[in-house]
Amino acid sequence: MTDAIAYERIGEIAVLKAQNPPVNALGFDIREGLLAGIERAEKDGVKAVLIYGDGRTYFAGADITEFGKPPRGIFLPDLCARIEASPLVVVSALHGTALGGGLEVALASHYRIAVPSARVGLPEVLIGVMPGAGGTQRLPRLIGVEASVDVITSGRQVGAKEALALGILDRIEEGEPREIGLAYTQELLDSGATRRPVSEMPAPEAVDFDALYDKVLKKGRGLLAPAVAVRGIQACCELPFDAGMKRERELFMELMDTDQRQGMIHAFFSERAVSKLPELKGIAPRALASIGVIGGGTMGAGIATAALLAGLPVVMLEMSDEAAEAAKGRIAGNLQGALKRGKISEAQFTQLTEEALTLATDYDALSDVDLVIEAVFEEMSVKKVVFGKLDAVCKKGAILASNTSYLDVNEIAACTSRPEDVIGLHFFSPAHVMKLLEIVVADKTALDVVATGFALGQRLKKISVRAGVCDGFIGNRILATYRKAADHMVLDGASPYQIDKALTDFGFAMGPFAVADLAGLDIGWAVRKRKRAEGMDPRDRDSEYMDKVCEAGNFGQKTGKGYYVYEAGKRGGTPNPEVTDLIAAERAAKGITPRAFTDDEIVTRYMAAMVNEAAKVVGEGIARRPLDVDMTLLFGYGFPRYRGGPLKWADMEGLDKVLATIKNGAQEDDYFWEPAPLLEKLVAEGRSFDDLNKE
Ligand code: COA
Repeated sequence: MTDAIAYERIGEIAVLKAQNPPVNALGFDIREGLLAGIERAEKDGVKAVLIYGDGRTYFAGADITEFGKPPRGIFLPDLCARIEASPLVVVSALHGTALGGGLEVALASHYRIAVPSARVGLPEVLIGVMPGAGGTQRLPRLIGVEASVDVITSGRQVGAKEALALGILDRIEEGEPREIGLAYTQELLDSGATRRPVSEMPAPEAVDFDALYDKVLKKGRGLLAPAVAVRGIQACCELPFDAGMKRERELFMELMDTDQRQGMIHAFFSERAVSKLPELKGIAPRALASIGVIGGGTMGAGIATAALLAGLPVVMLEMSDEAAEAAKGRIAGNLQGALKRGKISEAQFTQLTEEALTLATDYDALSDVDLVIEAVFEEMSVKKVVFGKLDAVCKKGAILASNTSYLDVNEIAACTSRPEDVIGLHFFSPAHVMKLLEIVVADKTALDVVATGFALGQRLKKISVRAGVCDGFIGNRILATYRKAADHMVLDGASPYQIDKALTDFGFAMGPFAVADLAGLDIGWAVRKRKRAEGMDPRDRDSEYMDKVCEAGNFGQKTGKGYYVYEAGKRGGTPNPEVTDLIAAERAAKGITPRAFTDDEIVTRYMAAMVNEAAKVVGEGIARRPLDVDMTLLFGYGFPRYRGGPLKWADMEGLDKVLATIKNGAQEDDYFWEPAPLLEKLVAEGRSFDDLNKE
């Protein structure tokens, strides 16, 4: 017997305690330990077995680190069958999170009790697979088709109270899992309760599973796992238990073999790894009890909202009383959303807007805050004035942060007497919704300032990514390149609408042109004007057709017209025919004969441009690892999670293939398609981006 399961006999009950921290994942040792524990109990002359977890949780799932590796020891489905078939009465006592394989072990037990704070669920679809140890066969027998489809295809965590009402749990008791489990098991024995295998319960009636499959597939926006899981539930209704289990295994293995599974698991581990910086080990963050925000536009108000919701008092600084009131209005509007969704109560809403938020027009109001984030106009001269004033009023040790999206944070830091306290905190709009936070570390930023940036990110429930200083940092720099690849394809013959469609079919939340309309076309226009004024390289292909759209006062969604025409009250827009005419005119003026692009070619080029720039960003140390880029694109740029991120995608696609696309492009335009040295090196060495993640 392994140490992962401790065995103890208490009267007529054998107690199996799982001890595999941090989350009691059902790895080899735990599985073998459970098997040995059940066998020992059966020989020990007891009447019942109690299973529970030590530490913070019951089994939180199969051990995901074993996925894709050669199988070892007893299979989880066989273990579940063995537990259920035991002649003893088997009880599981749940606390923490009984998820995936964990819930499947609980479902194989004959009775289930939990503490009130316990949560259960089958989140396998969130890592690109489906329940594979009887979850789709046992759960519907307990709670019916409709509830099972909801729980399994959403992967959501179900609270104990709801789980009791649904019939997943038999009882909820306050206390420790061991204590409530023992009392319940004894009570069952005393009342003469017998084994109650879920597999022997009748299966629910079948429904129209083809329609259900189609509906779930559509909702998954390209993610297959939830729809395939529906077929598992179908098997529960249409086949005897053993045949249903066999079918579930086949479907599970189908998903296990997909790139989607690899992408989803890469995302799962990377979102946890991304904010763990070796250089921050043992570095304590500075105290963070209040923050200041300068500028109450959409961005500043979003940042303030996020901070307030995380329990941080905010001083909002604006230029005038009217502007400050307008900022408060925006923040209150954001908080109304949280109120409507039940995230805060009416009383909290009032407390946040009337007490936790302070409006100010004088920099002196910032003299006592621990951290200030400025979200003022994106112009170096303006930023310098702000930082000069902050330097004068902020207390010693206060952190001075800029929300700039591309300006040089070193230059900003240099205009203060305390560059070690200056950092970039780049939020994404709307800042109280978007999960990404780029933490831009300048040359002189102190380590404990970086640590505080990450601590703030964690407090605001963001995915924080460390970025070095360059034009656009990680995300916007890569965006500028792949957006350019799209612009070039438009000049050469593709339409913006075909490109948007090809990329949403690939899995992006939106295509680049729809995104531009949403963000406001004035932003890109200003950048183009700035670049032209600074002097562009003659080899850099420029396009002017959207300037004309902007000159006419059309800036995308906010004005009702851009690449698309938007009708009030309708989601999404229809292609703007004026844009098509302007593109045709520009091609003619430039002497370009338009050619046809296939959707495949569009995706291949767009992705190759993205991967190439990403490889430069990693190669230059702007991003620490490939996974940092992947998480940036996933959480800030609508990249499909089931593809793992651009560099995970590139690994799966084949780096040689991606490099070939880049070299092919270089034959027409060797300025834009200059291969990243890191990509060439990896191809030459036969290595992958993921190899770098593991270094
Ligand atoms: N297999 C292997 N490792 C796992 C794991 C699993 N099923 N679940 C969590 N871990 C690891 C995490 O990677 C993390 O490792 P790290 O400390 O080295 O980064 C550690 O356990 C703690 O997890 P974390 O997510 O940071 O803790 P949390 O308290 O925020 O959340 C869970 C706990 C269980 C809710 C969350 O980890 C989770 O959802 N796990 C996946 C559950 C799942 O999908 N199970 C189904 C698989 S069949």
